[in-house]
Amino acid sequence: MNSFVRTIFDDMKKILITGGAGYIGSHTAVELVKSGYEPVIIDDLSNSNENVLKNLEEVIGHKLAFYKGDCNDRGILEQIASEHTLQGVIHFAAFKAVGESTQLPLKYYQNNIGSLVILLQFMKDHAIKDLVFSSSCTVYGQPDVLPVTEATPRKDAESPYGNTKKVCEDILVDFIKSKPGNRVISLRYFNPVGAHPSSKIGELPIGTPANLVPFVTQTAAGIREKLTVFGDDYDTTDGSCVRDFIHVMDLADAHVKALAYLGEQEANFYDVFNVGTGKGNTVLEVIKTFEAVNNVKLNYEIGPRRAGDVIKIWADTTKINEVLDWHPSYSLEDSMRDSWNWQKTLN
Ligand code: UD1
Repeated sequence: MNSFVRTIFDDMKKILITGGAGYIGSHTAVELVKSGYEPVIIDDLSNSNENVLKNLEEVIGHKLAFYKGDCNDRGILEQIASEHTLQGVIHFAAFKAVGESTQLPLKYYQNNIGSLVILLQFMKDHAIKDLVFSSSCTVYGQPDVLPVTEATPRKDAESPYGNTKKVCEDILVDFIKSKPGNRVISLRYFNPVGAHPSSKIGELPIGTPANLVPFVTQTAAGIREKLTVFGDDYDTTDGSCVRDFIHVMDLADAHVKALAYLGEQEANFYDVFNVGTGKGNTVLEVIKTFEAVNNVKLNYEIGPRRAGDVIKIWADTTKINEVLDWHPSYSLEDSMRDSWNWQKTLN
């Protein structure tokens, strides 16, 4: 980075964002800047590309400190620490394809767990106190009681991916118990959807999307012939699965709130928060909302159930509402509109 840029940023609260060129990371970078933080991004671009950074800089309005690399590489972390005074870290970088994780479990354990261990040691050695960790509602499995609170027991993971999130949460608990001086929050994301309202950044699935909404938008765009709804014979209002779909901008905002809250806590603090809307929607409701809001007809059919799918899950958000004073401000309609607008820019 040139010395001019470095001088401007030196006085700001710098936050290292691992996976900052990814879907949730890039949107969080925008929200951080709005709140007076300066993101420093490390991303190996394995699930993103340089264009995302260019667009992100357009949204933010200035150049970003970016390091292309893997956060399993302590060397690059040391380089970053030598060039920036970091106040905290948000750790997004991880693999997240559930199906692939069943085929290549070691890839997931090595990357998702290995990187957290390296990052924690790095933070401890440099007295970088605060960490927000990307966890997932996958840790609840299929819950017995809905909605799920943070006190809902975690279940055995359905996939190696899910297990990495569970193990990472356990590592964080043990780390904080050892009194390293750090303060950590795990955010358990429900289903992130939508895109930045400018349509300059959004979700960028590489290959065939496994997740619902990118498949919906690619089908509407004619990239995929047809969407298959995985089952309509579940015990739900219309037979399709239920999820808590949260707009990525709201999710991004939760990270900013979490960082601010960490700043007020004593050393050796750990807590977890659900980040969802508190409302469940079925897959068919998502499709109908997408069609209605965008005035687009979607080619879809009902197919067999997908192995390993949770039938229904949505969040009890009382804790994050009350403790972090975080409240979602985007609706499912907003999400479907923004996802479609983003897809159209990709066509
Ligand atoms: C899954 C993981 C979640 C992880 C996320 C990231 C589980 C239980 N959850 O979320 O932890 O963070 O992936 O990748 O493994 N659907 C269709 N047709 C499609 C695609 C999806 O009907 O073409 C349905 C699914 O059956 C599901 C819903 O849409 O009911 C949401 O699926 P998806 O977007 O893949 O997310 P999750 O499975 O909830």
